[in-house]
Amino acid sequence: MNSYSINGFDHCELYVSNAKQAAHYYRTALGFLPIAYSGLETGSRDRVSYVLKQNQVRFILTSPLENNSEIGTHIYTHGDGIKDVSFTVDNAEAAWEESTTRGAESILKPKLLTDDRGEAVVATIKAFGDTTHTFVQRNNYDGVFLPGYTVFEEDVLAEPTGLVHIDHVVGNQSDGEMESVCNFYEKVFGWHRFWSVDDKDITTEFSALRSTVMANDNETIKMPINEPADGLKKSQIQEFIDYYKSAGIQHVAMSTKDIIKTVTKLRKNSVEFLDVPKTYYESLTDRVGEIDEDIAVLKELGILVDKDNNGYMLQIFTKPIQDRPTLFYEIIQRRGSNSFGKGNFKALFESIESEQEKRGNL
Ligand code: FE2
Repeated sequence: MNSYSINGFDHCELYVSNAKQAAHYYRTALGFLPIAYSGLETGSRDRVSYVLKQNQVRFILTSPLENNSEIGTHIYTHGDGIKDVSFTVDNAEAAWEESTTRGAESILKPKLLTDDRGEAVVATIKAFGDTTHTFVQRNNYDGVFLPGYTVFEEDVLAEPTGLVHIDHVVGNQSDGEMESVCNFYEKVFGWHRFWSVDDKDITTEFSALRSTVMANDNETIKMPINEPADGLKKSQIQEFIDYYKSAGIQHVAMSTKDIIKTVTKLRKNSVEFLDVPKTYYESLTDRVGEIDEDIAVLKELGILVDKDNNGYMLQIFTKPIQDRPTLFYEIIQRRGSNSFGKGNFKALFESIESEQEKRGNL
């Protein structure tokens, strides 16, 4: 039992080479509203950050303003990617104290941030690779994000696409590292194993992986941890590791209450999604039974469906959102099901493999 509680995902912070241009994509393609900014104009001399929000999903896009910086080195090594997955907690100091006592490496000791809207406490520990977890405590803060940011001027570009909250965040590990990372989450946070899948379940000839989903007490946070498994050719997880150069965040799944509407808008905004093998929809009803959505529309949009004992879910995956084949996003609508889409893995991996093939990485 922890002396503090983790309430959910707070935000993800990406280190990117050009935050200004990346923010444009998050606004015009993904439909995020810029809510806060910090940079030279606010007294931040070494970095610039844009905070983007859609309902409960928040991203920070950060770029360095100086050379030889930790941020610049991160981008040089990994390309654009998620540096930090942060959690909202009721007590950041206790979260840091307890995690580090249980073996987590400290990156930032508890730090009090203040401005005229109140105060917040943040603290950071290392997760895996160069990825970190920040604890955010802002119960005494009523500003738009955190002290140190200014409110962003009104935005005319962003048109919301119906993304509601972060459903799960996935970490890719090097071969043989999954178990030790899962043990880390058990030991440091007291999380439990929610679900797992091994290479015997995931059978394409090529893209084998193993995955274990870690969850916090109230299961508001789910973090699948993947590692490559042996296949005939290169696992998609190995391709990620080869380009990210270490363990890191593979994808963030964002929920929607109407995936057909959301994906229609995203496609109109030129967001690229993985193609689905044409045969996928022929056997869909046999596999998942009757569903409310029109299968012809799902086929048109490339939306996948899976089910478990509690219901079904609909999901779709973007192509990588930067030039390196690393980070991508998932859009998910749950209709009762807690599944992570095992029934879709085969179709999905065939699609990923055809992309890997085009990149010469299979
Ligand atoms: Fe996912």
